[in-house]
Amino acid sequence: MKKFQDQVAFVTGGASGMGELMVEMFAAQGAKVIAADINEAALEEKWGKNEQVSIVKLNVTSDEDWQAAVEKTITELGKIDILVNNAGISTEKGINDITIEDWRRLSDINSFGPFLGMKHVSPHMEKVKKGSIVNISSYTALIGMGLNPYSASKGAVRAISRAAAADFGKHGIRVNTVFPGIIETPMTKGLESSKDVVAGLIKMTPLQRLGQPVDVVNAVLFLASDEASYITGAELVIDGGYSAR
Ligand SMILES: NC(=O)c1ccc[n+]([C@@H]2O[C@H](COP(=O)([O-])OP(=O)(O)OC[C@H]3O[C@@H](n4cnc5c(N)ncnc54)[C@H](O)[C@@H]3O)[C@@H](O)[C@H]2O)c1
Repeated sequence: MKKFQDQVAFVTGGASGMGELMVEMFAAQGAKVIAADINEAALEEKWGKNEQVSIVKLNVTSDEDWQAAVEKTITELGKIDILVNNAGISTEKGINDITIEDWRRLSDINSFGPFLGMKHVSPHMEKVKKGSIVNISSYTALIGMGLNPYSASKGAVRAISRAAAADFGKHGIRVNTVFPGIIETPMTKGLESSKDVVAGLIKMTPLQRLGQPVDVVNAVLFLASDEASYITGAELVIDGGYSAR
């Protein structure tokens, strides 16, 4: 039997990068997957023909979008076993360039989004006394990597995840957080043009390479699975050792 046979996994940001691979790997392990993303065209292009994957246009900052997407999933599939709050955006701007709008937008998408996801999905998990939530933070939440709204928004993910783990445990819902380092996805594509920066980052990384989406997605699948049934409130850093220095 496959690891996620008969389970339903809801993945935000499922149209690109790590989220795209999560959708693929959950489906390969037998799950029915909801690939949710603001980019409907990319969802359609990637998942439109996959029978195990349902696509839903979802802006993670919209209460109404979450309400509709979760209701549709429950009506069609009856439950949500797994939620991965993965959708996110980043910025290269430093303290002198950041606008108030930048700050609000990053915190809206990166931390209010996961809050809304947990708010809408957890009641359905609570009803069946079982569920697993994995939130995607970032190594920038743990170390000083430039004073910008990205780190702050990801620090908030860490805090709300721990709070949710403490609150939801009695309902059989586990909440864990993953902290990726620099992973080669469309989000970090800009790095390709600065070979010196990449060489410097690799030099600073004990494992001497950048991360690949599969490095993170393997850990997400583990935390989401029943193999991790006594793990909640955990914080797993996947950065090749960068933040351990
Ligand atoms: N790539 C890295 O180096 C890295 C490092 C640490 C953390 N992360 C985090 O990992 C997660 C995935 O990143 P990725 O590298 O795969 O990025 P990506 O840019 O490849 O994918 C992000 C996805 O989120 C979607 N998205 C953006 N705003 C949205 C919104 N408002 N509503 C719904 N969907 C929205 C995008 O359309 C896109 O499909 C993000 O939360 C990111 O912050 C990435």
